Amino acid sequence: MTLFAMRQARRHGRALLELMLALFVAAPSSAADAALIERAEKIVHAKCFICHGIEGETSSQAFPRLAGQHAQYLARQLADFQAGRRKSGTMEPMVIDLTADDFVALGVYFESRPAEPHPVADDALARSGREIFVSGKPAAGVAACASCHGPRGHGTDTLPRLAGQHALYIENQVRAFARRERSAEGTAMQAIAAGLSDADVKAVALYISGMK
Ligand code: HEC
Ligand code: HEC
Repeated sequence: MTLFAMRQARRHGRALLELMLALFVAAPSSAADAALIERAEKIVHAKCFICHGIEGETSSQAFPRLAGQHAQYLARQLADFQAGRRKSGTMEPMVIDLTADDFVALGVYFESRPAEPHPVADDALARSGREIFVSGKPAAGVAACASCHGPRGHGTDTLPRLAGQHALYIENQVRAFARRERSAEGTAMQAIAAGLSDADVKAVALYISGMK
């Protein structure tokens, strides 16, 4: 802290001093984030952009939108692809030469990208999907998606954000859980997937793709 700043702090009392301390404490972590983002950018520009876009917004429905996804969840998925705990065929070669630090950096990078809402055309189908998202299908033993992924589908550090994800990707993943092609963290999803019909999956996926 400069002499000038200290004089200012004394003059304006504790509030200003606290503000400056907060800024000082915040500085190293944002510098660390900047370093992580720089590290991730190199990798994204070299290979990930082809399918996921520079900003994590893809054009093809088959590739997940990564923008706004939780850093910790993303890093773990990358580790799962590398260790063969999550099967894809496409992603394994992408991560073969990356380190755990790269995974953390890529997670921080994509979480920092803004997630744009996608307009949804079929209102009737989306409405029946909303019903499943909010209330589940109690007769089939399917818990409401909202009970884990949150009422707005925004997820948590360990639960993926669903809101605004491509409908086709959501459908593919629900089926992948049913086939047990994802890691043990997805065990809850296996039961959910087993209780949903094809029409249910299409409806809830469409609704989710339009959530903000
Ligand atoms: C050739 C196209 C392609 C490239 C290049 C690619 N991906 Fe993927 N990515 C995919 C596909 C397809 C999936 C869906 C996999 C599945 O079916 O489970 C996926 C899934 C993912 C997921 C899981 C998302 C979720 O919501 O669970 C992450 C994270 C990811 N990719 C990150 C990356 C990163 C980081 C790179 C660059 C190192 C990269 N991808 C390069 C096609 C690609
Ligand atoms: C009991 C909690 C729980 C409920 C209820 C639940 N999920 Fe999940 N879901 C999870 C967990 C945990 C994961 C992450 C698995 C992992 O880490 O691999 C997940 C992952 C997913 C994914 C993969 C996202 C991605 O980016 O790859 C989709 C899609 C999904 N859930 C859809 C749904 C839908 C649709 C419903 C409602 C029909 C639902 N979930 C209900 C816990 C739940």
